[in-house]
Amino acid sequence: MLKVEGIETFYGPSQALFGVDLAVGEGEMVALLGRNGMGKTTTIRSICRLTPPAAGRVVFDDQDLAGRKAFRVARLGLGLVPEGRRVFPTLSVQENLVATSRSGDWSLQRVYDLFPRLGERAEQSARTLSGGEQQMLAIGRALMTNPKLLILDEATEGLAPLIREEIWAAIKALKQEGLSILIVDKNLKDLLPLASSCVVLEKGRSVWQGSPDSLAADEELQNRYLGV
Ligand SMILES: Nc1ncnc2c1ncn2[C@@H]1O[C@H](COP(=O)(O)OP(=O)(O)OP(=O)(O)O)[C@@H](O)[C@H]1O
Ligand SMILES: [Mg+2]
Repeated sequence: MLKVEGIETFYGPSQALFGVDLAVGEGEMVALLGRNGMGKTTTIRSICRLTPPAAGRVVFDDQDLAGRKAFRVARLGLGLVPEGRRVFPTLSVQENLVATSRSGDWSLQRVYDLFPRLGERAEQSARTLSGGEQQMLAIGRALMTNPKLLILDEATEGLAPLIREEIWAAIKALKQEGLSILIVDKNLKDLLPLASSCVVLEKGRSVWQGSPDSLAADEELQNRYLGV
């Protein structure tokens, strides 16, 4: 579904990625891990071509993404839920969802089934939602584009425990129905049981890849790269 090979990415003159490799197979959920500032968001921005890489290759659904604009990549079926839950604040919940919809299996009703809180607040303006509800809306918006790959960047960061559980339950349901997912999250306890494989970033490089079980069993690895 997605193959990333040796990408190097810059912000102006400063290099943030020095060679990141990862792959997400069909129906897999890959966890992208690493401490603050190690390049997780930059890797995602590179894949989606919001910050296009200067070197390396990104192949999505058998297509090399080199030279493509971010909106075209989104149309190929890359659904991004960016860091910091971005929604249109003045639009209602329903308007936010409709704004990004493209034809496919996902409908308003399916999003409301996944997140009943959104259905209850369909007419409410997004600005008046709680942080967790805005995060649900951000996920719902990405789903309304009918993505082949869903990318979640810190979707549960800073949320109250109850609402975080609701979001994890939704992510689990998405995985179980076979959606391919690339996910960044610091909450290993919830993340590792769902992940098919893990990639660890350190200073802009992918330094370790393996199964969630081998990561969970390796305290030294967790100490060294994740500060656990
Ligand atoms: N817009 C930007 N301009 C310049 N440098 C940036 C920019 N965004 C990120 N960086 C730098 O790139 C590096 C990687 O940052 P990135 O945001 O990808 O890390 P991250 O792993 O997502 O961190 P976090 O866990 O805090 O979200 C950091 O050194 C950061 O300071
Ligand atoms: Mg980040």
